[in-house]
Amino acid sequence: MFITLEGIEGSGKTTQMQQLSTYVENRGHSCVLTREPGGTALGKKIRTILLDPASTELVPTAELLLYMADRAQHINTLIKPCLAEGKIVLCDRYFDATVVYQGFARGLDTGFICDLHRLILDDLKPEMTFLLDLSPRIGLARAWKQLDNGTRSGTESRFEEETISFHEKVRAGYLELARRQPERIRVVDGSQDKKQVQMDIRDALADFL
Ligand code: TMP
Repeated sequence: MFITLEGIEGSGKTTQMQQLSTYVENRGHSCVLTREPGGTALGKKIRTILLDPASTELVPTAELLLYMADRAQHINTLIKPCLAEGKIVLCDRYFDATVVYQGFARGLDTGFICDLHRLILDDLKPEMTFLLDLSPRIGLARAWKQLDNGTRSGTESRFEEETISFHEKVRAGYLELARRQPERIRVVDGSQDKKQVQMDIRDALADFL
């Protein structure tokens, strides 16, 4: 089973993912925790370019293709082999992030992005996606706190440095995808207490497991 977690910066995905992975393993399922960009050795190098605030010259199409390159490597060398072994793959961000960040927020054509996904990535979709939704003002404040206290590296702040209106477009884009695909994308209130967010995710997953 392929499960993804999405949300704006500072939505708490990483913490929730780690807790979810422990929960799934404790229930006797073999589980792999991964992320995009950077789920493979090659992907880590691509991640450095993509999140470096010094990558100011990156044009939107090049950015899109770097995310797709990271994903091509990730799908073929990690996600598909793990799914074939019957493992549960938990992925921190995936294709929805590309539609939202490069499509809705940067303005690239979402039809073109979906065509690329179909043509080079076999249209591999998650069975279930959790969207941690919260206001960008709260999310960005949390994200900057992590950057300031060193929980997150300052060399990964390219998206945190985007304007609030960019992040509002990201949030609206995610909610639009959830409205279009309610059977796959579950919206969870990310402004709640961390424990409650985890409970909401587990409740939604219970039917699946
Ligand atoms: P994160 O690992 O902290 O979530 O950071 C990844 C950043 O990359 C985040 O700002 C969202 C962005 N991103 C895209 O713009 N497009 C994508 O396809 C993916 C996977 C992430």
